[in-house]
Amino acid sequence: DQHIPFYGDYQAGIVTPSQNFVCFAAFDVTSAKLSDIAEMFRAWTEAAAAMTEGQLIGTVNDKTTMPPSDTGEAAGLTPSKLTITFGVGPSMFDQRFGLAAKRPAALADLPRFAGENLRPEWCGGDIGVQVCADDMQVAFHAVRNLARIARGTAVLRWTQEGFQRTSAASSTAGDTPRNLLGFKDGTGNPDVNDNKLMNDVVWAQAADGAGWMNNGSYMVVRRIRMRIEIWDRTKLGEQENTFGRYRENGAPIGAKNEFDTLKLEEKDASGAFVIPANSHVRLAHGDGSMKILRRSYSYSSGLDSKTGQLDAGLLFIAYQRDPRSQFVPMQQRLAKADALNEYISHLGSALFACFPGVKRGGFIGEQLFS
Ligand code: HEM
Repeated sequence: DQHIPFYGDYQAGIVTPSQNFVCFAAFDVTSAKLSDIAEMFRAWTEAAAAMTEGQLIGTVNDKTTMPPSDTGEAAGLTPSKLTITFGVGPSMFDQRFGLAAKRPAALADLPRFAGENLRPEWCGGDIGVQVCADDMQVAFHAVRNLARIARGTAVLRWTQEGFQRTSAASSTAGDTPRNLLGFKDGTGNPDVNDNKLMNDVVWAQAADGAGWMNNGSYMVVRRIRMRIEIWDRTKLGEQENTFGRYRENGAPIGAKNEFDTLKLEEKDASGAFVIPANSHVRLAHGDGSMKILRRSYSYSSGLDSKTGQLDAGLLFIAYQRDPRSQFVPMQQRLAKADALNEYISHLGSALFACFPGVKRGGFIGEQLFS
C-alpha cells in the first residue's frame, strides 16, 4: 500500500517505518497574529491530507485564467507513503504570540554541547516539518506547496533533503540501512510495535505537564557533517572500535549477530572493554535506561566551496518524550568522549514539539492555536 493515513491519534512519520527520502523544512513565522498561524495550519492540514492521499491540492486546477492551486509536479504519482509531521520550536513561545504560558517544560532550549560547530543558517525555526516519502519528487512537492500556502504568514528558514538506500535496492526486505560511514544505523532502536515502550520513550503523556502535547512527541534534529575523507583513510578495525560494532553485519564487537545484546561488561586479556570505553554505542547506550527513537537520513549537499570536500553526513532526527532526560544527557556523554567525534561535526540543531495527531474535521495544532 502506497498510502499512510494522515489522520489518527498520533501524527504519522514518527513510529512509521522510515521511507526512502526526507525533505525537512524549518519555517519562521512572519505574521504577528496568532489567528494567521491557526489559519495557516488549517490550510496546511487540508493540503497535507490531500497530498498524502495522492490528490491535487485545492480546487482551482483547471482554470486557464488563474495560477493552479497545486504546483502539479506530483500529478499522477502515487502517494509514495508520504508523511508530513508538524512541530513548533521554542521560539514560537517568545513574546510575539502570547503563548509563553503554554510552553512545555520539555521544550527547553537545548544546551550547548562541547565541540559543536553550529551555524545559524542550519539552526532553529518557529515551525519544523518533516516530510518523508518513497519518492523525492513527492516529498519536494509537499514542502514547496506548504511554503506556498504559508506565504504572508511564514517563510522557509532552512531545508535539508536526505536519503537512504531505497527499499528497492536492498536485497533483504526490512534490513537495517547503512549510513555514509558504511555502518548499519538503527539497530539499537526501540521496537515501534511495542505500545507500552512507545508510551515510555516516544509519546508525551497527559501527566507530563503540557496537556496540548498529550500523544505528541519532541523531535531533535541535528545536521551532522561527516569528515568522510578522514574516515576513508581509517583502518577497518579502528572504524569498528569507533562504533563498537562490526561493519559487515552490524553485530556488537564480541557478539555474532546484528541484534545480539551489547556485552558491555566483557573485557579482553589486557583488561580493556571489548566494546571500547569511548565507542559510540557504549556511550550512547549509557546504562540503557534512557532511549530515543532515531529516524535519521543521510545527506549530501554538494561540495564545501572552501575545502573542496563533500558536504555530506547525517540528518540526525530523533523522537522522544522529553529531550531533557533523553537526547540531552546522551549527547552530553557523546560530546565528551565519543571516538566518533574525530570524524563528525554538528553544524545544525533544532528542536520541535510535534503535535498529537488530528481527527478529520480538526486541524494540526488546534490544541495550541485555538
Ligand atoms: C547507535 C551512527 C550520532 C544515539 C549507533 C550505531 C551507529 C550510529 C552506526 C550502531 C547501530 C545502531 O544501533 O543504530 C551514528 C552516526 C552519528 C550518530 C554516524 C553521527 C553522524 C548520534 C547522536 C546520538 C546517537 C547525535 C544521540 C545523542 C545513538 C543511540 C544508539 C546509536 C541511542 C543506540 C545505542 C544502543 O545500542 O543502545 N549510531 N550515530 N547517535 N546512536 Fe548514533
